[in-house]
Amino acid sequence: MILLGVNIDHCATLRQARYRQAAATAGGAVEPDPVTFALLAEHAGADGITVHLREDRRHIQERDVWRLREGIATRLNLEMTCTPAMTRFALKLRPDSVCLVPENRAEITTEGGLDVLAHRRRVAKCVDAMNAAGIATSLFIDPVAAHIQLAAELGAPWIELHTGAYAHAYFSRRRAKQLGRLRDGAVRAHGLGLVVNAGHGINYVNIAELRMLPHIHELNIGHSIVSRALFTGLGEAVREMKARMNP
Ligand code: PXP
Repeated sequence: MILLGVNIDHCATLRQARYRQAAATAGGAVEPDPVTFALLAEHAGADGITVHLREDRRHIQERDVWRLREGIATRLNLEMTCTPAMTRFALKLRPDSVCLVPENRAEITTEGGLDVLAHRRRVAKCVDAMNAAGIATSLFIDPVAAHIQLAAELGAPWIELHTGAYAHAYFSRRRAKQLGRLRDGAVRAHGLGLVVNAGHGINYVNIAELRMLPHIHELNIGHSIVSRALFTGLGEAVREMKARMNP
């Protein structure tokens, strides 16, 4: 069984588009609530909830993460950049796992995996701190042999293979090559004793191929599930509004 981690960032993106300035005390008027979204995802079978607390706080807020920590029944996976401030935050929060990702303020979403070679010291510090605290660390990396090898050397128990390049290449001739890179990466990582997760750009079409990758423990999926929920839930949302308009 491959596990599903549902990334709920885009529920918060929708909320922030309207309520960026609203006080937390505004309560139920501030919608949609990512914590309610997480609970529904769990009810539907999600094996874990993933959030990226970005430094620019563009979607998920600290308060959301604390409420998730209290409220969810499955596992909380905190995606973060490996700065001292975020490391301190994670040690206070104590999520079930952290996933170290690169972060660039200008990007629309995470672009490319973490360059473990370039940031070796920073990553090592963070992994050591998490290991000491009993929090599993995952490194979000491209399927590059040197990065996978270094992840193992630094003592990170998990990696998350970046599937974005494959997803982008899906309708091109580069798709088979990208899939091959992911396959080789998964085999290499598994051989080194790493738990292999994957994520980014996974959708209802490419899942048919990605689910066949070897050794995959968990997939983290966000945008396509939130997008699909708009359609599968839209009928009910319109019907309920009409019913309330004309009771
Ligand atoms: N995994 C990581 C490390 C990510 O940064 C993201 C995007 O925030 C995802 C998974 C989910 O990607 P998507 O929203 O494209 O499904």
